[in-house]
Amino acid sequence: MSERSAKLLHRIDLFADLSEEDLDQVAAAAKVHTFPRDERIFDAGDTADALYVVASGKINIVVTSPDGKDLILAVLGEGQVFGEMGLLDAVPRSAAAITATPAELVSIARSDFDQLLERQPGLSRKLLHIMAERLRRANTKMESLAYMDVAGRLARYFLDLARDHGQSLGNGWIVLRRPTHSDIAHSIGTSRETVSRVINDFESQFGMVNKGRFTYIREEQLR
Ligand code: CMP
Repeated sequence: MSERSAKLLHRIDLFADLSEEDLDQVAAAAKVHTFPRDERIFDAGDTADALYVVASGKINIVVTSPDGKDLILAVLGEGQVFGEMGLLDAVPRSAAAITATPAELVSIARSDFDQLLERQPGLSRKLLHIMAERLRRANTKMESLAYMDVAGRLARYFLDLARDHGQSLGNGWIVLRRPTHSDIAHSIGTSRETVSRVINDFESQFGMVNKGRFTYIREEQLR
């Protein structure tokens, strides 16, 4: 167990209130993994044996339809946890976790996590908080998939991305690192070609700017 992952666990909101002693115990049992892009951490239906914390990089949470179409339910980044559902309800993984970029993860085995939950009621409260927020986001996503056209879904996608991961440039613009058109398409339930076409429309209609892997959006569009 490297010092780096001990430090990382201290920074994660879920573990922020644990005593040094408890955290050191978790850190001692935790494992660090490094993955390239497009690596499957686990698949839907796998046995759930660990909780994962994202140390760096991005992870796509993906469900696949019987005819092979992927839907990205969420993109998780540094400090976020996943794999908690299978540990809490002892049911196989509800979705696959696939690296969207090179990533470093810390895993905590089920038995260690179970012991921690029993000793630390505050941890359960934090997990409930995380799950409530995810349910809220899932509801919003369901609403947009059911009721919005592709342009509406894509606009909401970019606005959420700008709010969650955008950086203000201080001159009225926000910059964000744009996921691949394929990942965007899989997040909003459309094709890669349609994403490219609607992004072109956004450039001409709303002044969105795309340069390389980055997208620039005016801050006023977030209000
Ligand atoms: P688990 O079911 O063990 O494995 C898949 C994980 O993906 C799940 O735990 C959650 O951690 C995560 N997950 C599933 N659905 C969502 C969602 N809608 N939003 C964010 N994360 C999710």
